[in-house]
Amino acid sequence: MAGGPRERWTSKRGFILAAIGSAVGLGNMWRFSYLAAENGGAAFVVLYLAATLVIALPVLLAELALGRGSQKSPIQALTLYGGRRWKPLGLVFITSGFLILSYYTVIAGWALRYGLVAIASGFDPNAAERFGEVASGWDAFGYHIAFMAFTVFIVVGGVSRGIERTSLVLMPMLFALVVGLALYAATLDGASAGYAYYLKPDFSKLLSLNVLKDATGQAFFSLSLGMGAMLTFASYLGRDVNLPRAAMIIAGADVAIAFIAGLVVFPMIFALDLSADVGASTVGALFITLPKAFAEMGSVGRGVGILFFAALIVGALTSAISLLEVVVSSAIDSLGWRRRPAGILLGIAITALGAPSAWSTDILGVVDQIANNILILGGGFALSIFVGWVMAGSIEEARVGTADVAWFGTWRNLLRYAVPAFLFFVLVYDAIPSTFRAIAGLF
Ligand code: TRP
Repeated sequence: MAGGPRERWTSKRGFILAAIGSAVGLGNMWRFSYLAAENGGAAFVVLYLAATLVIALPVLLAELALGRGSQKSPIQALTLYGGRRWKPLGLVFITSGFLILSYYTVIAGWALRYGLVAIASGFDPNAAERFGEVASGWDAFGYHIAFMAFTVFIVVGGVSRGIERTSLVLMPMLFALVVGLALYAATLDGASAGYAYYLKPDFSKLLSLNVLKDATGQAFFSLSLGMGAMLTFASYLGRDVNLPRAAMIIAGADVAIAFIAGLVVFPMIFALDLSADVGASTVGALFITLPKAFAEMGSVGRGVGILFFAALIVGALTSAISLLEVVVSSAIDSLGWRRRPAGILLGIAITALGAPSAWSTDILGVVDQIANNILILGGGFALSIFVGWVMAGSIEEARVGTADVAWFGTWRNLLRYAVPAFLFFVLVYDAIPSTFRAIAGLF
């Protein structure tokens, strides 16, 4: 065991901003907009909101209660309340952390590259070709390494001096950037076609199981659920924090930023008549269409584009931190490692694991599906059962400091029945089969 008392957040605000920093990231801007484009615009947004409220929010509160109650990283938290047979689930969480971070910093590396090149020389109108270069081979791998180095640097600084301080500065900046960009986008001629596409639901898609799976997966990914990230952050909390309120603030901020990011992306794409490119959307959509739009907007576009990529980089950094922290805190708690060598060694290992994703966006897309469709949704399924049925005193832990009691029975019933039943259904009928089809499609 590592010596010394457990690290702590220095303020509630610091914890909330760090948790929002974990939630808000590439998922809100890159993943959300490409899924919305692919899945019928507002129809997807409606399902995503419903999934967040009914399925993801209860799991978020479950993770917070488990983390704060145990004061431990995932493996030990699970074994503390459930005994050793729950250890494999903790190992699955660590695996998810490795896998997600391994491609997350690849995408963040693309953003870093676009931002730096835009500062140096602007945006290239030949966006598709440019993306091909940025997103493959040694180029992509180099920026992946650079982004991971930043992430390691902050995590090695510790919970309050590294993660909390970074979030306190970067999160308000991110809010200001995204809101400012949305206001700018509203001034563009033709923005209304973008709003119409984004906000007018195509109800024929609402009933599709595939869209339901994408919406649920996105709700989990965006709130950083299903692999112990929120759990780990909550393990550095004292018992003076109102967890249900924290969960609502975190989820509210996360949804708001995703929604506002859509108000940036869609008007710009439609104002410049690039909507056909969105239809053919893949993981690369945002990185091809938007740079093209910025290039066509001339010198204003260059400035706006730099701010856009700055927001993306900031969001990605605070999320990558939380992914690495899960793995690092587990090495500290379970293996007795010190923070600095743990951060550096695990950062190197995860960078190497990301090499295939750096080489090919097709591989990256499949790894994203494995992580989301199977590991995160599966992790959420297991977590809801764990906190609903196995963890003793879960309600008491969740309601420390709250007077209002009526909701907690509903919460536990959701965790016991509705959430696992729904996730099981989505996993078996769509998430698992479609992931295997995607894997087969690589060959
Ligand atoms: N939520 C982040 C985003 O939307 C990504 C992320 C950070 C994450 N930590 C996570 C996703 C843990 C799943 C699990 O970009």
